[in-house]
Amino acid sequence: MGDDMSTGYIPQEILDEIVARCDIVSVINEYVPLKRRGSNYQGLCPFHNEKTPSFSVSPSKQIFHCFGCGKGGNVFRFVMEIEGISFVEAAEKLAKRAGVRLPEKEMTPEQRKVLEQRKRYQQINELAARYYHSVLMKSNMGQPYREYLKQRQISEDTIVKFRLGATPAGWDNLYREMKKRGITEQEMLDLGLISQTKKGTYVDRFRQRLMFPICDEKGTVIAFGGRIIDKDSSPQKYLNSPDTPLFHKSRNLYGLHLARAGIRNADQAIIVEGYMDVISCHQHGITNAVAPLGTAFTPEQGKLLMRNTYQVGISFDGDAAGVKATMRCLDILSDLGCSARVIQIPDNADPDEYLKKYGKEAFERLISASQELIMYKIAKYMETTNTDTITGKMKVVSMLLPDIRKLQSAVARESAIREISQKLQVSEKAIWDELRRSQNTAGTAVHAEQNYAGEEYTGSLQENDNPTGNIENKIERNILHIIFERPELLVEAERFGGIALLSKEAAAMYQDFQECIRRTGKVESTAISQERGQQLADILMEELYMTDMDKVLHDSLVQLKQEQLDKEYQDVMLQMEQFSKQRNRAKEAGKENLEENVEAANKMQNALLMKLDAILREKKQYEASNTKLQERGNSR
Ligand code: GTP
Ligand code: MN
Repeated sequence: MGDDMSTGYIPQEILDEIVARCDIVSVINEYVPLKRRGSNYQGLCPFHNEKTPSFSVSPSKQIFHCFGCGKGGNVFRFVMEIEGISFVEAAEKLAKRAGVRLPEKEMTPEQRKVLEQRKRYQQINELAARYYHSVLMKSNMGQPYREYLKQRQISEDTIVKFRLGATPAGWDNLYREMKKRGITEQEMLDLGLISQTKKGTYVDRFRQRLMFPICDEKGTVIAFGGRIIDKDSSPQKYLNSPDTPLFHKSRNLYGLHLARAGIRNADQAIIVEGYMDVISCHQHGITNAVAPLGTAFTPEQGKLLMRNTYQVGISFDGDAAGVKATMRCLDILSDLGCSARVIQIPDNADPDEYLKKYGKEAFERLISASQELIMYKIAKYMETTNTDTITGKMKVVSMLLPDIRKLQSAVARESAIREISQKLQVSEKAIWDELRRSQNTAGTAVHAEQNYAGEEYTGSLQENDNPTGNIENKIERNILHIIFERPELLVEAERFGGIALLSKEAAAMYQDFQECIRRTGKVESTAISQERGQQLADILMEELYMTDMDKVLHDSLVQLKQEQLDKEYQDVMLQMEQFSKQRNRAKEAGKENLEENVEAANKMQNALLMKLDAILREKKQYEASNTKLQERGNSR
């Protein structure tokens, strides 16, 4: 690689040997789940956010490359980038992994100091963990904590596996213990193990608590959490270490070092809320569970999980705070490109309670019944919004729009819209309309509805929402195509309202056709203006798989007409609702008795009702003929 990689003190032959012994696929697979794709492997790029894999690893060339962000290189480059370390550090890391011995290295005194300090911090935490653990397991002072764990049905194996501990009563047990071993106050302060009082004395941070060592991915103790077991001992149920040189609560997950294997085996991770939930899950054989560290889930934590899987189940509390946390977590994970689902536990139980009561198999059934993001959100929004009214329905739709918009696959988008339509009793078209409208205001281009134009969405009723000027609705394209081939059918189109049915773009072409047919009896391609000529050519290039053009045209017109009526119907309903709201407000304000107001209101209401009635009658008229259209299916 001809770049800034300074090989430093490592000779080339040794670098070659490292490369030979570290297969790039297995190295990268430890950070990025890879799937075989032909002769290469693919995954989601860890260097930029994406939802469809453009990150590729070639075993034959021993290189990686991301077609999305352009990052690429050999195994050293990958480790440098992902760990944020220098070439020499990456080489050392890989050498260790491959069992290759490096020549003795020259470090600057500065580097040596930093490295040694870090090692020492780790040793101090390790010492503290051992101390807490032995208090729990061996001392008299550990007795109430052992009793407490027994009562919560935590087995001894689990206690050992999670290295649980306890702090005895007293102000400075740990402090004195550590002091005896030559650890300085400053180091203990740095690690958040003690704090200094106003008088200048030192006290333990954790006192009279059940202790949970918090580890990094590799199992090194980096911090602690402590839980009271006696309500009167502290108002704060849990206390955690502060952020320290070793610990950042937003960048670690509780239990990850024990869950990694389980996550990879199941190709799924489960996020639970509490330490006790993680522990209980593991004890019951759900070994892919982790928890955030007493704060909201972060994107860094999401990325940490994504080194192991792209599938995550969330099982937080069912209370209001839990729902909010769940939504946030869903958003973070789906923005990172993970498939996130919600595991809901009946009766507001937490995983710990549920597992104890019903066992592993029951919990696994909940996992398989988990809901994906949109379904979960619909259900939650419907709980808090009155969806008997149209405004209520549309409110829920608009809350869901950002999530629908984020769906990358057209199939996913279509099925989400179908489900929403069924759940809310709103037409699919109305949702497509809203989506399109919101897209225009958001200014983001989305291509999915192009795939559905003709099936689901007709843009015919929006004035100006197609910046490309293309006619994308399959039904409109068919209508124009048929009229071009069979100009005498223009009459039929006129019968249904002609231009009034079509989107702005389709209407413009239709008008050109109309004028030309009126003059010459047929459509000549020269009659089409320059800028629309390309469009027409495009439409005429499509094969018409239609044996019966008359019928297809008729059915297409019926469908557009129906969609138009649906839209009108909804508009009138909305007006009526707004109107009755106004009326109620007037009532509250005590103005309802003014005769002129009553009269005007009644008039207005009658007019709306008549309109509605007319629309409904017209709708009925078309319903019978439309069933045929649906049987026919789509011709594209
Ligand atoms: P149990 O109540 O023993 O079942 O523990 P749990 O782990 O289920 O705890 P809970 O559901 O009450 O809380 C979930 C997580 O939130 C805990 O594991 C902690 O990480 C965090 N937490 C709870 N209470 C506190 C608190 O008072 N302070 C802090 N910093 N974190 C807390
Ligand atoms: Mn709990």
